[in-house]
Amino acid sequence: MTLTSAIKASRRSNNKRATRGRGAAAASAASAMWGGRFSGGPSAVMERINPSIGFDRKMYRQDISGSIAHAEMLAAKRIIPPADAKAIVAGLKRIEAEIDRGAFAFKVALEDIHLNIESRLIELVGPAGGRVHTARSRNDQVATDLRLWVRDAIDEIDAALERLQAVLIRRAEEHADTILPGFTHLQPAQPVTFGHHLLAYVEMFGRDRGRFADARRRMNESPLGSAALAGTSFPIDRHMTAKALGFDRPCANSLDGVSDRDFAVEYLAAAAMCAVHLSRLAEEIVLWCSDQFRFIRLSDAFTTGSSIMPQKRNADAAELTRGKTGRIIGALNALLVVLKGLPLTFNKDMQEDKEPVFDATDTLVVCLAAAAGMVADMAVDAGAMRRATAGGFMTATDLADWLVRAGGMPFRQAHHAAGRIVKLAESREIGLDDLTLADMRAVEPRVTADVFKVLKVESAVKTRTSYGGTAPANVRRACKAARRRFLKGRAAKGT
Ligand code: ARG
Repeated sequence: MTLTSAIKASRRSNNKRATRGRGAAAASAASAMWGGRFSGGPSAVMERINPSIGFDRKMYRQDISGSIAHAEMLAAKRIIPPADAKAIVAGLKRIEAEIDRGAFAFKVALEDIHLNIESRLIELVGPAGGRVHTARSRNDQVATDLRLWVRDAIDEIDAALERLQAVLIRRAEEHADTILPGFTHLQPAQPVTFGHHLLAYVEMFGRDRGRFADARRRMNESPLGSAALAGTSFPIDRHMTAKALGFDRPCANSLDGVSDRDFAVEYLAAAAMCAVHLSRLAEEIVLWCSDQFRFIRLSDAFTTGSSIMPQKRNADAAELTRGKTGRIIGALNALLVVLKGLPLTFNKDMQEDKEPVFDATDTLVVCLAAAAGMVADMAVDAGAMRRATAGGFMTATDLADWLVRAGGMPFRQAHHAAGRIVKLAESREIGLDDLTLADMRAVEPRVTADVFKVLKVESAVKTRTSYGGTAPANVRRACKAARRRFLKGRAAKGT
């Protein structure tokens, strides 16, 4: 649809509405276009399948920045009269203010954000407004807008990830000495410190930030000026517009410029990985606040009650974070499938790139905030954690290690002897450190009284001082290092 025919179509539909006097549906052009006339032929279907204004209006700021940069470049290169460029820029700023305050009438007949803004511009400044689209196309325009939008989203997510890391580091410092079972196969394995456990997530989220930063670096090239697909015969300056929009450089190939959506895929891949990390944390929170664990208690702010069972406190925020991960993974999958097999260059299929990107972003942002809130507020029951280390013979590895160190046994042999001692304790339904020296010597004569030093979980964690290990002293050092490595802004102050 050309711009003039779209404007005419919009007028036609407004007139139809007026003559039919369709009350509430007449409130906006959009609802009238979508409202209750589904009996119709292909044009009614087109009105439903074709427009993107319902979602791409989210990019209005980016669209306006792109148009301002383009108009100023056109004037600088004497492609359009400077006075017209001035009028265009002033008109665009006015439109931005209109949209900001909700006074802009979006029209479905105008398909998308680009045509809606351009049509309003012409309304505001007259035919000069029609010059803004010189030497560009909606194809390079939309590619530019979405890159700018994703770039802003990455910055917002990076800040949210930093806030989450700050909260995790603060709670880790607080619980550098708190002992709980470390699990493998969800079975008690070796005692660890809760601080150490929380810092594991700080590492994951640090890598997520790295992935977003990599994606941002690679995507920071400007498609603007690729025009429809082949470039343009006007003497434009793509370096100038790239610079004005904060891009590192223009995309090198115009065909690639309009058809590349790798940047959105990479962004969604980083978002999916981050969501998977969040869902692992969320799952642990669900487990930890279950009656079987009782390691933590979530604040009222992040739990809900049951409509029938009065005793319930459900960890809904954690469950939803876990569940919403499915949407974000789905968004990545959706975009990959949309792009698969598309011939160069622009195809309308690509209009389907935006909703997954927008939805994944909204979802990730709220999940990051929920995770930070839950971790900040949770009450940690150190006693319950410590009690949970009692069963499970979690210092069996320490017993084997002691046999290696004190008895000079090869580890494999020591492992075997420790296993037999565990079996003995198990048969008597007591802990390892409840066995007598004589009990143990009956199994392995090289055992001395010295062994009791290593059978307590406190000693097990305290001695694990190897680099990256769980010892409280390590955790305190690791918290300091993590602050240096990850926290730059306000978050560095531990807020
Ligand atoms: N609404 C379109 C999109 O979201 C803009 C590009 C349209 N280009 C075109 N040649 N129809 O991708």
